[in-house]
Amino acid sequence: MIIYWSGTGNSRYCAEYLAGKLGGGALDAFSYIRGGIAGEFISSGPWVFVSPTHGWRLPGIFERFLRSARFNGSKCAYFVMTCGSDIGRAAEYNRRLCAELGLVCMGTRAVVMPENYVAMFPVPGEAEAREIVRRARPALDAASVDIINMTPFAEPRPSALDALKSGPVNYFFTRYMISDRRFTVSDKCVSCGKCAALCPVGGIELDGGRPRWLGGCVHCMACICSCPAGAIEYGRASLGKPRYRCPEG
Ligand SMILES: Cc1cc2nc3c(=O)[nH]c(=O)nc-3n(C[C@H](O)[C@H](O)[C@H](O)COP(=O)(O)O)c2cc1C
Repeated sequence: MIIYWSGTGNSRYCAEYLAGKLGGGALDAFSYIRGGIAGEFISSGPWVFVSPTHGWRLPGIFERFLRSARFNGSKCAYFVMTCGSDIGRAAEYNRRLCAELGLVCMGTRAVVMPENYVAMFPVPGEAEAREIVRRARPALDAASVDIINMTPFAEPRPSALDALKSGPVNYFFTRYMISDRRFTVSDKCVSCGKCAALCPVGGIELDGGRPRWLGGCVHCMACICSCPAGAIEYGRASLGKPRYRCPEG
């Protein structure tokens, strides 16, 4: 069973692509996360958890969802982490998570997809993004063959720098960099409410038709990247940049 969470569509695309190869569907964890619902799932085939990489680890929001859920049936779990460049030492943290959940970790596969972190980095325009997605498909094909054969994913040896990125840098990043304080909305806002509807933590309310951020933000970039009017900015960091949504979504 494939279970995914996605901010801007990359991980959804990968989960659905894998579902096409493996047969069956892909379950979106959004409603569980947003509703604070602990999932109870059953599968005879291996679990395949698909998510973005945040700070060289699984996003905390997805990890908490996995910790709160019960996985009945299969005891084997694969992780597919979409990323803009690399996942650091996430594989090791995923192995530890599996041990806590009573699952056998079959490995973590990084799939390089377009960068979506518009609040921090440049993000690709549509044509470049399509090309990056095209180049990601062989990695997904290889992952699906391993899953079908129940072969553990081959994992590259992490470097000392990887340990630093997924360890102390992740700690600093998640505690001090992730905040909604710099989100602003301009007069271009059309009061559609899409930002509030897509926020996985329910951290946006409409105040006089305009978004107001309430805290709890996980920097998934769904609000800023899904605004149809381009009315949301993140300080000066997002000014003039394209907004990213998976072009194949
Ligand atoms: C808060 C945040 C942190 C990120 N951290 C990393 C990272 O550590 N390494 C990386 O290669 N990409 C990183 N990215 C890029 C995303 O992991 C990547 O674009 C992913 O495919 C987005 O998936 P989604 O569209 O399913 O949300 C980060 C993006 C965000 C928004």
